[in-house]
Amino acid sequence: MFNLAAIILAAGQGTRMKSSIPKVLHSLAGRPLIYYPVRAAIEAGATDVVVVVGHEGEQVQAYLGEMFGKAVRIASQAEQKGTGHAALMAMPEMGTEDHAFVLYGDAPLVEVSDLRTLAAALEGHPEAPLALLTCVLEDPTGYGRVLRDAKGRVSAIREHRDLRNEKERAIDEVNPGFYAARVSFLREALADLKPKNAQNELYLTDIIEAAEKKGGAIAIPTRAASLVGVNDRVQLATAEGAMHRRIIERLGRAGVTYHGDPLVDDSVEVEPDVTLESGVVLRGKTVIRRGASVDVGCVIADALIEPGARILPYSVITSSRVGPRAQVGPFAHLRPGSEIGEEAHIGNFVETKKTLMHARAKANHLAYLGDGEIGEASNIGAGTIFCNYDGVSKKKTVVGRGVFVGSDSQLVAPVTIGDGAYVASGTTVTHNVPPDALAIGRARQETKPGYASKLRAKLEARGKPK
Ligand code: UD1
Ligand code: CA
Repeated sequence: MFNLAAIILAAGQGTRMKSSIPKVLHSLAGRPLIYYPVRAAIEAGATDVVVVVGHEGEQVQAYLGEMFGKAVRIASQAEQKGTGHAALMAMPEMGTEDHAFVLYGDAPLVEVSDLRTLAAALEGHPEAPLALLTCVLEDPTGYGRVLRDAKGRVSAIREHRDLRNEKERAIDEVNPGFYAARVSFLREALADLKPKNAQNELYLTDIIEAAEKKGGAIAIPTRAASLVGVNDRVQLATAEGAMHRRIIERLGRAGVTYHGDPLVDDSVEVEPDVTLESGVVLRGKTVIRRGASVDVGCVIADALIEPGARILPYSVITSSRVGPRAQVGPFAHLRPGSEIGEEAHIGNFVETKKTLMHARAKANHLAYLGDGEIGEASNIGAGTIFCNYDGVSKKKTVVGRGVFVGSDSQLVAPVTIGDGAYVASGTTVTHNVPPDALAIGRARQETKPGYASKLRAKLEARGKPK
């Protein structure tokens, strides 16, 4: 049976990123760069994945362990002596597979279909020791160039800085850096590498020349990718743009409607019949369930939006849950721990934090609801504040079912309002209110008929310059 492992090189420092964190841990569409080639290799059938780490290797290793567990093995390259040397360091960690992908950790746009093509080429040509992809780039600067002999066969890869003449510099067919090879060939060819180049490194790409002597390398031209490797932050941003496009188009094909350019991270789940408007940003472990809609400019992270919920423009939701057919926004802010019940409403300029709002409850305008619980079908008036913080600690406000809290009220926690109670507008509630009670706490109004014009005259006289 045809079997496969993968070697992924991720030991380099990534000098061109000008960063204190290792290049392969830089984030792209919500996941570190290294995640993508590892996942692609596994999806393409690699039963063992060995990642070579070096610079800040513990951090990379910690991430891989957390994300992939036992599916990934680690090899270390203490000194970065080149991609060929890095691959050599992986060999002792290899399992029993006879074939292996060799990939770079800084190539997040790698496609599973391309890896399958490589594997199939190797399977179909038992005499060939190695297969590689090539592509034509408008601007090949920085990439290894594919050298072909008179018969058009690939004879070697020449690194950009080692190009020898104008003719070589004019070559626009490059090495995107995706290979599949027989492990027996890899062992030999890697051990034979010599540092004979501008950087005095062992180049992985020199095994192409070795393969030519052992039955020939199979070169598979692929469509021109706009960018294949991430070496600096400009390329990181370009690659992220391509990844976001890929994600939204995948969702579109799966039944998600989108307008403009929503940015959906790789880690997010969006079900069919969801609508995402322009400028939406979905991050982390967010899940948007069937039939929900997220309107223009909303930023949602690590939140669960249940079926049919509507998130209106410019709302920000973090680590919260919005129940079925609930409505949030426009301009709402749900902070961590907010739970909005079925068909509940949170309106404009309402902020919630660690607050559970039961079904059909409403807070439609201008409120702060922190550390609270609001019972079914209760109404929280405009300008209501849950005074949850006394300067030292946070306290809870509990509002029962069917309660009416009038506008501009303050509920000073800890406090409980019983079921069906009524809080008059402008009341500062400092004591518990029993069920069905009316709480009113404000200065009694005095009305003086005809006094307005008198008052004005008095004020004007006082205001006149002497
Ligand atoms: C490499 C290829 C080049 C190809 C390009 C595609 C070589 C010599 N060159 O160049 O032909 O066009 O990728 O993107 O292979 N690494 C190590 N240990 C090292 C050096 C590098 O693990 O000692 C890792 C890096 O972490 C990185 C990967 O190998 O993930 C590629 O290294 P990089 O220096 O970026 O190679 P390129 O110059 O891009
Ligand atoms: Ca690179």
